[in-house]
Amino acid sequence: MAKNVVVLGSQWGDEGKGKIVDLLTECVQGVVRFQGGHNAGHTLVVNGEKTILHLLPSGILHKGVECMIGNGVVLSLPELKKEIEVLEQQGVAVRSQLKISGACALVMPYHVALDLARETKRGQRLIGTTGRGIGPAYEDKVARRSIRFTDLLDPEHFSDLLQENLDYHNFMLKNYFMASIFDYTQIYDETLALADNLLPMIADVPLLISAHREKGYSLLFEGAQGTFLDIDHGTYPYVTSSNTTAGSACTGSGLGPRYVDYVLGITKAYTTRVGSGPFPTELTGPLGDALVELGHEFGATTGRKRRCGWFDAVAMKRAAQINSFSGLCMTKMDVLDTFDTIQIAVAYEKGADNFYGRAPVKPIYESMPGWKCSIAGVDSWAKLPDKAKAYLKRIESLLEVPIVMVSTGPDRKHTIQLEPIF
Ligand code: IMP
Repeated sequence: MAKNVVVLGSQWGDEGKGKIVDLLTECVQGVVRFQGGHNAGHTLVVNGEKTILHLLPSGILHKGVECMIGNGVVLSLPELKKEIEVLEQQGVAVRSQLKISGACALVMPYHVALDLARETKRGQRLIGTTGRGIGPAYEDKVARRSIRFTDLLDPEHFSDLLQENLDYHNFMLKNYFMASIFDYTQIYDETLALADNLLPMIADVPLLISAHREKGYSLLFEGAQGTFLDIDHGTYPYVTSSNTTAGSACTGSGLGPRYVDYVLGITKAYTTRVGSGPFPTELTGPLGDALVELGHEFGATTGRKRRCGWFDAVAMKRAAQINSFSGLCMTKMDVLDTFDTIQIAVAYEKGADNFYGRAPVKPIYESMPGWKCSIAGVDSWAKLPDKAKAYLKRIESLLEVPIVMVSTGPDRKHTIQLEPIF
């Protein structure tokens, strides 16, 4: 029986992980975020009520479930406080459920300014970041100059670190980017005020994970973004600044690799991406517009319109290999309800087997007939039309990974569970 389950996006993010994590949380005692920051936007709909989470693990709406933010996450204190307060107003006891690793690198106000200044400087070649300071925060981490959550326990030490960081970043902002600089005292005061509010939740997350294991409890590891936004395995440089793939669940939390029991890949029934970069199956005409409209494809964090296209089985095969998916969950299947024909990219022209090169690749498609009826809210395999079943079966055979769940709408109830995960 699976104990530790990793849930990951297998495309470019926005696959609908939030809903699935929320649903699977019924089977676990804890949920762990292990990478990314508040660039993520996880939308949950429970009893018709919509909640968008950016930093908090999607299990937070379940009473008594321990939610952990692992060392791999970059933490914006103002954003975290804001998110906690919104949920508290809805009656969620966030503070008693949430534990935050002291090793989290902080996203500071100057990181946001640097993110925006860099994008402006890149001009046409911009990455299309979420503008949340995520890249610069990870840069500081790798450069070994980050201010980490634990540093706030010692105000004098924090003061020294802040001074060093500001000297450096203010110099870059002023002289290289010709941008405004930051005031030491203001950041110092604001950060320590936030620390008073949030430090009570600091914890040794690897130790907590180990304690869960010893008790025989189950944990969910909740990925943010998606496989092809991975800093190493994604469409570099059009990626995010963390590892979004399966190995990161271990390095970003302190879970030992031998204890991963199941890796669930979440994929849309088609493909979307926000921001710049390669996207072989992108549809720029009316079909793409139809997917945007039918799928409500606007970013949960930035509100940007997502680029849309057909399902790319070549890319997905790569995602399945890198992440060693045990099973797949296909989401937003109902968005394809009205299409006469549905295409699947089964190869790329000229024998290309990936899209990492500088030259764009062109997909070779296989066509399948659409099912042309509403499957919105369908919750059992038996109720699916044969053509929808055929679409799922074809994808399964192309990827050689079982589809274990299908999502047909935003609510928890709109789900077909084909195989148990826990
Ligand atoms: P950053 O993570 O803000 O640095 O943005 C880098 C790239 O990742 C951009 O293309 C963003 O649009 C994309 N990205 C970051 N977070 C998400 C997400 O949660 N969903 C989808 N794309 C994302």
